[in-house]
Amino acid sequence: MPLNPLAVASSVIVVGGFVLVGAVLWPIFLRDIIIITNGLGRTVQPISDFPYQCRRISGPGLQACEDMWLSERTRQLFLACSDSASRKHWLPNAARFNVSGRSLNDKMIALDIDKPVNTGFEYRVLETPGFPGVNGDSGLHLVGMTGVDGQNHIDLYVVNAKPSVNITTGTYLTQKEHKEIGGNSTIELFRVNPEAEEVEFVKTFADPHILTPNNIAPTGKGSFYFTNDHGPHKAGTWHALSPIMKNGDVSYCNEGGCRKVDGGHGFPNGLSFGKDGLLYVPSSWAGDLKVYRTLPDGGVEHIDSIYIPYALDNLSLDGNGDLWIPGFPNMGDMLRAFDNPLGPTPPANVFRIHKKDDGTYQVDKVLEDSEGKVLPAATAVVHDVKTGRIFLSGIFSPFISVCEPIDSPSAETAGLGSTERDEL
Ligand SMILES: *[C@@H]1O[C@H](CO)[C@@H](O)[C@H](O)[C@H]1NC(C)=O
Ligand SMILES: *[C@@H]1O[C@H](CO)[C@@H](O)[C@H](O)[C@H]1NC(C)=O
Ligand SMILES: *[C@@H]1O[C@H](CO)[C@@H](O)[C@H](O)[C@H]1NC(C)=O
Ligand SMILES: *[C@@H]1O[C@H](CO)[C@@H](O)[C@H](O)[C@H]1NC(C)=O
Repeated sequence: MPLNPLAVASSVIVVGGFVLVGAVLWPIFLRDIIIITNGLGRTVQPISDFPYQCRRISGPGLQACEDMWLSERTRQLFLACSDSASRKHWLPNAARFNVSGRSLNDKMIALDIDKPVNTGFEYRVLETPGFPGVNGDSGLHLVGMTGVDGQNHIDLYVVNAKPSVNITTGTYLTQKEHKEIGGNSTIELFRVNPEAEEVEFVKTFADPHILTPNNIAPTGKGSFYFTNDHGPHKAGTWHALSPIMKNGDVSYCNEGGCRKVDGGHGFPNGLSFGKDGLLYVPSSWAGDLKVYRTLPDGGVEHIDSIYIPYALDNLSLDGNGDLWIPGFPNMGDMLRAFDNPLGPTPPANVFRIHKKDDGTYQVDKVLEDSEGKVLPAATAVVHDVKTGRIFLSGIFSPFISVCEPIDSPSAETAGLGSTERDEL
């Protein structure tokens, strides 16, 4: 999920006074904050440097889409959308707890990527009959989303960052109580038919280990991995310090329940399985992507790391087996835009991670928009290998964007090679 910049930036502020105390932490801390989150001394390129033609797509409901997932089988792009103006009020992953300001209109959207209309594509806003919400309000509070293409249906797993209720009175906790206790995030499973006309609510996963969930990587066999982006810390000072203390984790759930399988992460974000069956876990704080082998008992073994000196968001796998991920060239701009989503768009960029035959990784910067001209403050990116199109959405952006490769047979590969890589 894409929340990171916000939470990370607020951590930096909250933590200001604390930093001096942690003299030992200082070197790492400095490197992380100054280089990775603020991008000091980095060249941020204009969008015209890249061989793509990009445009924004707006429409009812098509805003504040934190995450997306492409169903290759049905050629539908699923989006987890909300309300741009509300994200700053309610986003437990970023310690925003103004319950009355939260969106009551979060919706999943199915967009038909082979059916262009005008400047956009045909899409449907999916209603979720049967989903109870909190106290019967049927509300969803969408953050991360991941699907599984099945034979007769598509399973959609979503993170639902909902408010907590007072168990005694049944009413929502106040903003003040939430600031101490935190929200009550769960993972919801929905099933849709191939044309995504009907949505069936299947079940809620609520577990003592589902604490600060950010995103989900289903195994396709009913079990799934997910990241707790702030580990066990739902609120308060420890929540703010969590990216520095690196106590985010990777957890695993199956029919038997959930458990933590790896700790020590600084704001772990949208993890994903690669085509090689390995599990890739990006960090929105440390700029490194950890690679794991999963074990038969659900545990994980750390086997490799890929260093990309940017705060990273949500990984997605394309049909070629490449992984795509948005980065945040400037965290300060991102935070300002979070509080003013209809104002200037912050710079965004996109990286592609290609695993070479020798097992090493090649990282290319594929897009960058230093002036925030056409790309959203991207928290999710999807690459459609059939058309070469790149779709981008952002957790608070009031639009999504699509980039078409400029029509020259070699355009897509030219210019993306070593020069961009040197930027890294
Ligand atoms: C909470 O949200 C409401 C509704 O948007 C808004 O009027 C109020 O100012 C917000 N409160 C705070 C403390 O931001
Ligand atoms: C974000 O990550 C999840 C895996 O956790 C993935 O399924 C989802 O498709 C990703 N988002 C995008 C844009 O691919
Ligand atoms: C949290 O959510 C679960 C599942 O929806 C619910 O059973 C539980 O009562 C909620 N707890 C609080 C404190 O809101
Ligand atoms: C819940 O309500 C009870 C009774 O009004 C109150 O004593 C308690 O402080 C409230 N807050 C929480 C977090 O339970």
